[in-house]
Order: sequence, then C-alpha cells, then structure tokens
Amino acid sequence: MAEVNGREMPADVLKAEHRVILRVTTVLERLIQKSESGHQFDVVALGKCVQFLQLFADLCHHAKEEDLLFPMLEKCGMPRDHGPIGVMLAEHKIARELTRAMAQGLEAYTAGKAEGEAAVQLAGRQYIELLRQHIYKEDNILYPMGDRAMTDEDQATLCDQFCEVGCKSFGGKTADELAQMADELEVDCLGA
Ligand SMILES: [Fe+2]
Ligand SMILES: [Fe+2]
Repeated sequence: MAEVNGREMPADVLKAEHRVILRVTTVLERLIQKSESGHQFDVVALGKCVQFLQLFADLCHHAKEEDLLFPMLEKCGMPRDHGPIGVMLAEHKIARELTRAMAQGLEAYTAGKAEGEAAVQLAGRQYIELLRQHIYKEDNILYPMGDRAMTDEDQATLCDQFCEVGCKSFGGKTADELAQMADELEVDCLGA
C-alpha cells in the first residue's frame, strides 16, 4: 500500500471506511429482506444500522470528503458544481435524506404505526443501492482522479487533517467504537 511520510494515503483511509460502510449495508439488506418476506421486523438491529450510518457514514466519512477532500480537489482545479464532485455532493444529500427517512420510519413503527415498516424497507433499499454505486464511483473514478491531481504536499496535508478528524467523536462515539458497532451488527445479524 502506498504511503505518504510513512502514513496511509488519504484515499486508502477513505476506501477502508467504505468497506466498513458496505459491511453495514449488507446487514441492513439482510434485515430488510427478512421483514419483506414476512419475518421479524428487527427494530433494534435496524435502529443500530441507522445510527451507525448517520454517525459513521454521514457525519464522519461524508464530512471528511465534503470538508477536506473535495475542497483540496477544488484547489487542484477540479470544479465543484459540475463533474464528479457535484455528483458526489448531491448523492451525500440524498443519502442523508434516506437515513433520516429510515429513522422516521422506525420511530413511527415504534409509536404503533405499522406503515413505518414499509417506509424503512423503501428508504433502506434506496440507500443500499445509492451507497453501493456511490462508493464504486469514488473508489474507481474520483479518488484516482484526485491522486493524479494532488501533489505529495497536498496528500500530506490531507493526512494531517484526517488524523485530526479521526480523533473526534461522533454522537459521543469514537471511530473505533463505531467500527466495533459494525462488527457486532455482523455477528448479531449475519452470524459472522
Ligand atoms: Fe462520498
Ligand atoms: Fe466515500
């Protein structure tokens, strides 16, 4: 794996986060499949998936891209409003709306409104499809473009900034605690 000053390259840090997000979308998919086939609607596990996605994907990962990576790429000459950055920003916005819709569906179901289950299924399916293709585009198109555009110094700056974000907590949980949450969800829901 390539390194900058002995540290992991920014794109590799983000790709590793993608793998964790994808593992939780697999859990989410399994839970939705179960409820669609008339089996248990596991509100507790679904609530954990949604919480993970809001804190790790929306708050930690997407914010790293929006606040740090994309501005750096703009500095390197990539336009913000059209081209890949604009598409990625629009997709982050939809992803946040879908996690909110899942949370609201779960809340409604818990409050006794049975239609909350269908709302979670619909938003969940849309979220899974969106995130999988979003991650594919970033891994295979945007990040390689960024690596070609950035200098070694730009990469080192991003590394420093990513380290700072990595030390923060998100909704009271550290990045390590969130990654552990993903492990637990896999064990509980996939029998991993
Ligand atoms: Fe993204
Ligand atoms: Fe990403």
